[in-house]
Amino acid sequence: MKRKNDAKFITFEGGEGSGKSTQGLLFYEELFSRGVEAVHTREIGGTAEAEQIRNLVVNIDLTSMSELLLIMAARYEHLLKLIIPSLQAGKTVICDRYVDSSAAYQAINSGIDFEKIYHLHQETMQFDLPNSASYQGLMPDLTFFMDISPKEGISRARGRGEINKFECFELEFHNKIHQNFSLLAQKYPRIKRINCNDRQVDSIHQEVLEYYESMK
Ligand code: TYD
Repeated sequence: MKRKNDAKFITFEGGEGSGKSTQGLLFYEELFSRGVEAVHTREIGGTAEAEQIRNLVVNIDLTSMSELLLIMAARYEHLLKLIIPSLQAGKTVICDRYVDSSAAYQAINSGIDFEKIYHLHQETMQFDLPNSASYQGLMPDLTFFMDISPKEGISRARGRGEINKFECFELEFHNKIHQNFSLLAQKYPRIKRINCNDRQVDSIHQEVLEYYESMK
């Protein structure tokens, strides 16, 4: 895949209340202050259409397979209308959650394993664009797993007020998410685990920047 100006695709992942949104925004602001063109976006969502799908997924009870298929539909819109055009324009894309969240969340209690989720991603996220560029199963160049204890994360998330259906699940569900992200971080070198327990926001931000510097 051709990208201008060495634009990067960087994702922030983790359980509820892990601080990934705060860190993603801080990272975006840092790039902005360095004059690096970037966009900050999120999943489920990122485009008007995908945000509508998000409302369904986070508010109604669905089987994991239906959830996965809806999330993939939202991701398809997001890739086609925002992520790929931004990368092609030379902008670095910072995304709050992406396909690793599908692996960590939708694999739970569903019989859909990680491999199948990544395989579906490869098989369906295919784009042949008019400018003869083609993209298949785009994966991030760098991913941060914001690692916080599920107990601490969930109490932070609930403290924020507005809660979605995932945040209402029992601690056991959040422990599984944490376990899944840990497994993914062990398996894929692009995923960097960042310890977020008992740490200041700025110290975490500095570690994120160090990884970013080392990829250039
Ligand atoms: P998000 O807004 O990141 O929630 P939070 O900021 O509270 O962590 O994401 C909304 C929910 O969507 C989140 O609970 C996790 C879920 N989700 C999945 O289950 N699978 C996915 O592929 C994605 C992207 C999100």
